[in-house]
This record gives sequence, C-alpha cells and structure tokens, in this order.
Amino acid sequence: MMKIFKTQRTLKEHLSSIKGKFEVGFAPTMGSLHEGHLSLIRESKKRCDIVVCSIFVNPTQFNTVSDFKNYPKNSSEDIELLKSTGCDILFLPNDVNEVYQNEKKVSLELGSIVNVLEGEHRPGHFDGVMRVVKLLFDIVQPDKAFFGLKDFQQFLVIQKMAKVLNMKIEVLGCDIVREKNGLAMSSRNKRLSNIELKNALVLQKALNHCKNNFRKMDLQALQAECFRILQKESNPEYFEICDAESLSPITEISETKNIRAFTAASIGEIRLIDNMEIL
Ligand code: PAF
Repeated sequence: MMKIFKTQRTLKEHLSSIKGKFEVGFAPTMGSLHEGHLSLIRESKKRCDIVVCSIFVNPTQFNTVSDFKNYPKNSSEDIELLKSTGCDILFLPNDVNEVYQNEKKVSLELGSIVNVLEGEHRPGHFDGVMRVVKLLFDIVQPDKAFFGLKDFQQFLVIQKMAKVLNMKIEVLGCDIVREKNGLAMSSRNKRLSNIELKNALVLQKALNHCKNNFRKMDLQALQAECFRILQKESNPEYFEICDAESLSPITEISETKNIRAFTAASIGEIRLIDNMEIL
C-alpha cells in the first residue's frame, strides 16, 4: 500500500521511524507522470528497499508565469501510476509554503556547469531547481536519488550540489525514455497538437545527424547543419556539442572521449530539450 504524506512534518516522522533499517531511494518529480518518471521508480525499487516519490510543481524554477500555470497537472492519474509501479511513499505537498517553510538559503558556487546551455538560456532556472531539490533532500534524506538524463545538465548540477554540500546521497542518472518514434518523453509533450508532435521529432533527427556525422566533418559546420535541420520544423535556441563532464563546448575533435550533444527548441509555444551521447 502506498502511503501519501501532504506535510513535511508527517513525512519526516514516518521516515525517522524506518531510518537506518532500510535503504531509501528518492525520485523527485513535478507530476504529470510518464514512462520516464516510472523508470526512475523502477530503478529505485531495484536498488533500494523503500521508494519515495515527490510531486511538487516548483514555481521558483520556471522562467515564465504562463509556463508554470500551464504545466500539466494530473495528480489522481499520477497516484494510480505510482501505486501500480510499486512506489512506497508519495510526498504530495498542498502548497508552496509546505515545501519552502524554514528554508535556509545557501549560496553555492558550482562553476560553469550552471551557466551554460539551460543555465544561459533560462536565467535563474537552476537556482530554483537547486533550492527545491536541497529542501526535498533535507526532508527525505535518501540514500540514493534518481534523475532522468533527458535533463542531463540538471543531473550534473544536482550531483555537484550534493557533493559540495557534503550530502551523503548518491545521485544517479537514468537513461532517457523515448516514444517508439524517438521523441524523448516529457510532461510538456502533452501540450503538443498532433502536427506539433510530428514536428517535435526534429530534435531527435538533429541529434542523430550529429552522431552519424561526427568525425566526418568539421565540428562547427556539423553544429550549424544540425541547427539548420532544427529550423525546418522548430524555433531552435541552441545545438551544442559538449564535453559531457564539464559541459564546455568541444571545438575540435581531440582525444575527449565523453561527448554529448544538447539541444533546446520550441515547437509552437512549447519549449523542448533533448540530448544524446555522441562518444
Ligand atoms: O526534473 C524535474 O521534474 C524537476 O526539475 C525536479 C527535479 C523535480 C525539481 O523540481
């Protein structure tokens, strides 16, 4: 039976009664769950004794009021999905204050990984993500925490935050889950029309083009070609080929082994991101 807690006080009480006896895995989410989220719950179940999920649409990480307001919400469907996936505990706070009460703000210096890509294009976004994830980590105090690699940069930022703050939490990334046609699963896909859903495949198309042509041509030219592919069906913000650890752009093909391509593009009103391992 999945237990649902709406206040941090009752959740903490429950968790302290099992602390030390079980290994706790945690998957924070903003709800509107899809297979990508459920894969985090499954991985957490495989690796831990107790699985905690949170559903909280965090206002501090949105750049526009309309994106926050229109973020899809469906908690009764989410609850059923979590139950059927074997989640043990759901933290479902009723309001923002329930999470942010008692926040002690810390300023963190995480270096360039927060300022590039999404950090550059969505100013303040990672500040909001770090604020809420730190609060949730402090409430749940998990042994392991699971994040989807569609938000690869978010995963790196949180991993670094946990390290810098000396939190004893292993931050793990789980593979991107895609639809059969290759579209990376995202709660925002629910807001796309049928035509837009087809157009959204262009992100995957550009990333595949990058992977298939890597080493065959000059990197800047390849990047520009991928950007042009995106322009045919979307309004692209960036297409960048980066070192997968530092996220610094790769300008020439060298000995770097760990390379990933990252993109953000809007399909109509909806901004999507995706990324792919290149090497
Ligand atoms: O990836 C998300 O859904 C959110 O950024 C997270 C990690 C739940 C924080 O609000």
